[in-house]
Amino acid sequence: MVVWKFHSRLSFLSLNLMKNKLAVYIHIPFCRKKCYYCDFLSFTSSEEKRREYLEVLVKELELYSDLLYERGVSSLYFGGGTPSLLSEKELEYLFSKVFEKAKPQGEITFEMNPEDVSPSKLKLLKNYGDFRISLGAQSFEEELLKLFGRNHGVDEIFRAVDTLDSLDFNNYSLDIIYAVTEKFNMDKNISAIKAIYPSHLSCYALELHPSRPLAKLIEEPNEDLYKRDWDKLKGSLYSMGYERYEISSFAREGRLGFHNLNYWKGGDYLGLGLGAHGYIHPYRYSNERNLRAYIERVEVGELPLATKDYISHQDKRFEKFMLGLRLVQGIKLEELYPLSPKEKKAMDKHLANGLLKVREQRLCLSEEGFDLINHVLVDFL
Ligand SMILES: C[S@@+](CC[C@H](N)C(=O)[O-])C[C@H]1O[C@@H](n2cnc3c(N)ncnc32)[C@H](O)[C@@H]1O
Ligand code: SF4
Repeated sequence: MVVWKFHSRLSFLSLNLMKNKLAVYIHIPFCRKKCYYCDFLSFTSSEEKRREYLEVLVKELELYSDLLYERGVSSLYFGGGTPSLLSEKELEYLFSKVFEKAKPQGEITFEMNPEDVSPSKLKLLKNYGDFRISLGAQSFEEELLKLFGRNHGVDEIFRAVDTLDSLDFNNYSLDIIYAVTEKFNMDKNISAIKAIYPSHLSCYALELHPSRPLAKLIEEPNEDLYKRDWDKLKGSLYSMGYERYEISSFAREGRLGFHNLNYWKGGDYLGLGLGAHGYIHPYRYSNERNLRAYIERVEVGELPLATKDYISHQDKRFEKFMLGLRLVQGIKLEELYPLSPKEKKAMDKHLANGLLKVREQRLCLSEEGFDLINHVLVDFL
């Protein structure tokens, strides 16, 4: 059954075979416990709930069979929640179904929490492909991991990294959260990153969600704290040889995260699972966030969409600036012309004040512009 006709008539003539392929995101909404800072759609689960969810997720994937077959898959990303908490039996079930319908030509990423990294789980992954791992380290400050309500200590992060190394997983990324409180500077993170030297890092300034327990434990981080930590972290990563290629992403030796790169370049992607988002030109959609509703809709053969919005040319233009300017290389000028009068005015203003610049025929943010990205984007809206 064709559930979603895509719109590019010339797609099969594309010389760039990856270009028309879909990136696929699969959401696993389960966590062992909720971290005190996290506002992502995730919750605890029973074996029964996981079994039911995985079966329904596979049914949702099957609803997209024709689209997946027609377009092919460029990259696959298992995110959460905590996909790594799935048992080996659950992973075997999920992977066997997903790889049957959506085997990617390129990168496969699997998010893992340090406490889940074991030789047997990694060997299982190896049976299905060459996985890139995104490891949720968050911090190398023991006390901060406790304040975050994490399920692991610093030792466990190092143990996970040793296990990854011992099984030749040489493409892994660490997630780090910075700018939390005055008390924790970046020293421990920096020496740990130096020792581990991962191929990729995603660095996130803490977002303090008022509804999460951490908001009752610490003050809202201020600009000075943000600047102190960010300058230190960024400077150290540069001196270690990392290349910043996106506002919060660093890689060495070309190990960029290609799945996310597709988002920032405005490419199509299919989001599967509870609350997942997708963009299949010209529609952006999001799935049901309520587990029962999600399950019931898929069970009757319906796509579990909560929203489906037509993205007009004007919306897409704004997204092009919003997403493309997150990349250090920015946006090709030829893709931007002709500019609307508003875009021209915004571009002239921020080229003049130094927040934007043109480098190698591309429009990009300056170093200062990155810190003030919202200030720039608002003028393109
Ligand atoms: C979708 S989460 C899942 C990662 C994985 N479950 C874990 O905890 O390791 C992806 C990343 O978002 C970041 N994150 C989550 N909540 C955040 C917040 N409130 N502020 C900043 N970063 C956050 C964390 O670094 C986390 O690793
Ligand atoms: S940070 Fe990761 S483990 Fe913690 S609650 Fe969020 S998704 Fe779950």
